[in-house]
Amino acid sequence: MHKDIGSILYSEEVLAERVKALGRQISEDYKGKKLIVVGVMKGANVFVADLIRQLDVDVVLDFIVVSSYGASTETTGVIRLLKDLDENIDSEHVLIVEDIIDSGLTLEYLVSNFNTRHPESIKICTLLNKVERRKVDIKVDYIGFQVPDEFIVGYGIDYAERYRNLPYVGILKRSVYE
Ligand code: PRP
Repeated sequence: MHKDIGSILYSEEVLAERVKALGRQISEDYKGKKLIVVGVMKGANVFVADLIRQLDVDVVLDFIVVSSYGASTETTGVIRLLKDLDENIDSEHVLIVEDIIDSGLTLEYLVSNFNTRHPESIKICTLLNKVERRKVDIKVDYIGFQVPDEFIVGYGIDYAERYRNLPYVGILKRSVYE
């Protein structure tokens, strides 16, 4: 285990099992349909790469890059779209894939932005859901795990751009960020 990690929440094996199950469920729900899978960068990078390999539907992969203003660990609520979709989502089924949902402000922005482009449907899949921090009501369709309000890193999730490469999800030691 990395020296900055206090404990492992979800091991590599546990993550793989859960991603497989989510893939089965999503494949069932979109059977025979084309699905535009949108990874929200950078955090969703690792999860979306694993998830699409568990999907048995016609997948088109796309990415967007968003960032919230401010350097603090708290989301400010002002979202910047740094890279838009490449795909035209008019009349398409869209699945937005996130690594973690905290306040919900990023997704609230994305869903309302995408809705102006008249997709056939929009659903949300997140690996981790931190409901204790929710500020806006967001309907999340697929959830990997409900997580406690701890400082979580790994499997794509960073602290100051580090720890994204850890193959597990863990809780960062307080001494690292305090
Ligand atoms: C994280 C995460 C979500 C967002 C969730 O991204 O990947 O996109 O925050 O927070 P919210 O529900 O409070 O809006 P971050 O801005 O840290 O960027 P990153 O994906 O590049 O790490």
